[in-house]
Amino acid sequence: MDVRPFWLAGQAATGEDEIIVTSPYDDRVVGAAAVPTPEQVERAVAAADAVRRTAAALPVHTRAEALAHVSRRLAERAAEVAELISAENGKPLMWARAEVARAVSTFRFAAEETRRLGGEMMRLDTEPAGEGRLALVTRHPYGPVLGITPFNFPLNLVAHKVAPAIAVGAPVIIKPAPATPLSALLLGELLAETGLPEGMFSILPLPNERAAALVEDPRLPVVSFTGSAPVGFMIAERVPRKHVTLELGGNAAAVVLADADLEWAATRIALYANYQAGQSCIAVQRVLVQDEVYDEFADRLVAKVKALVTGDPADERTQVGPMVSEQAARRVEQWVREAVEAGGRLLAGGGRTGALVEPTVLADVPDDARVCREEVFGPVLVLRRVASVDEAFAVVNDSAYGLQAGVFTTSLATAFRAAKELEVGGVIIGDVPSYRADQMPYGGVKDSGMGREGLRSAMEDYTYPRTTVLTGLTL
Ligand code: SIN
Repeated sequence: MDVRPFWLAGQAATGEDEIIVTSPYDDRVVGAAAVPTPEQVERAVAAADAVRRTAAALPVHTRAEALAHVSRRLAERAAEVAELISAENGKPLMWARAEVARAVSTFRFAAEETRRLGGEMMRLDTEPAGEGRLALVTRHPYGPVLGITPFNFPLNLVAHKVAPAIAVGAPVIIKPAPATPLSALLLGELLAETGLPEGMFSILPLPNERAAALVEDPRLPVVSFTGSAPVGFMIAERVPRKHVTLELGGNAAAVVLADADLEWAATRIALYANYQAGQSCIAVQRVLVQDEVYDEFADRLVAKVKALVTGDPADERTQVGPMVSEQAARRVEQWVREAVEAGGRLLAGGGRTGALVEPTVLADVPDDARVCREEVFGPVLVLRRVASVDEAFAVVNDSAYGLQAGVFTTSLATAFRAAKELEVGGVIIGDVPSYRADQMPYGGVKDSGMGREGLRSAMEDYTYPRTTVLTGLTL
């Protein structure tokens, strides 16, 4: 079996144990990841701590060249990387390829942003007391970043921790999801080609129960976590003095108003409720449709959902693959059953084979059902009739989460209203909430987390401003 080494302070290493990675589709063994011993974890943290000043002082062109190198090499190895993502995560090849393309951009954006991180000069002679003084505001890394990453984007969500850390000159330690460590370890191969100083990166596939020691380690002042809300907030509470960024869940809503292009809205919602088997924090979950167009829209949507090609992720035609595990699929099946028992109507799907859940559409579900209130993280969408824009926006906001929302409308006035009134981190007009461009700020409010990713935003999150006042100098 192919056992991938982990990365300890930039060097490939093996431990005493391994994590076996299996395909969620057919349980075949995809590979294995070497697991570091506690002593090796300690060496990785000590190396990150030891290199932090050197890292912060790395010339910008060195950081930019390293990031551009990774971007180029990912593009060169794109086919192989996509196959690995698909095999370990179960996402269909079409989505795995899209993820690799995004990771290529994520590293490229980081290479560009690091060159723009110039700081600011402020005149202080705006008041008599400031005459003869100038302030320089520059940004400095807090220190090594601990990135804890999820299974649903095993490459690009690792890229979103690693790339901004290198861009600001911060060492980074990644703990990838135990279900999908292989893509992160492959990324380590490309990082190792860059010649970044020893200790600048470590990739440590550890079981989740070994993450707490890293979270609490004072030598890692930044924790950037992507995953579930309960775990995220537990981390924030455990280390109140650290700088913690949380990218958590959502129950994303798409609003379809009477003036929308219904064909476009149905096509996009059908696909993006089910992409990656719904295992994206911004997959469409709640669909709020204005009364006048509800019936016509529901017919179009259900037809499109039923037409989705479900099955083997390695098949070029497959649009919807398995969930990450049969256990996860059973949970989703149970939530759907509860919704139906509570009076919901099943318009499509509802079935499950192993980890494969049929793309499912529910209607008339009581608001307090788990498929409405919690994050399903599966291929399930819930249709709801709304009388007006007021009601639609109130329902979007009536959620513990606030990550992204999509509004299908052709009215500029409604678009601006949405931007003003929706309590979410991102409002997507004319498309699904699942739209994400990797350079834009991305993150949520309420239980969806705190802090932002997107290269520039993450670079701000990993650094603090330092104000240097120059006395006796004027311009
Ligand atoms: C997520 O699931 O939070 C990430 C979504 C994305 O990057 O598209």
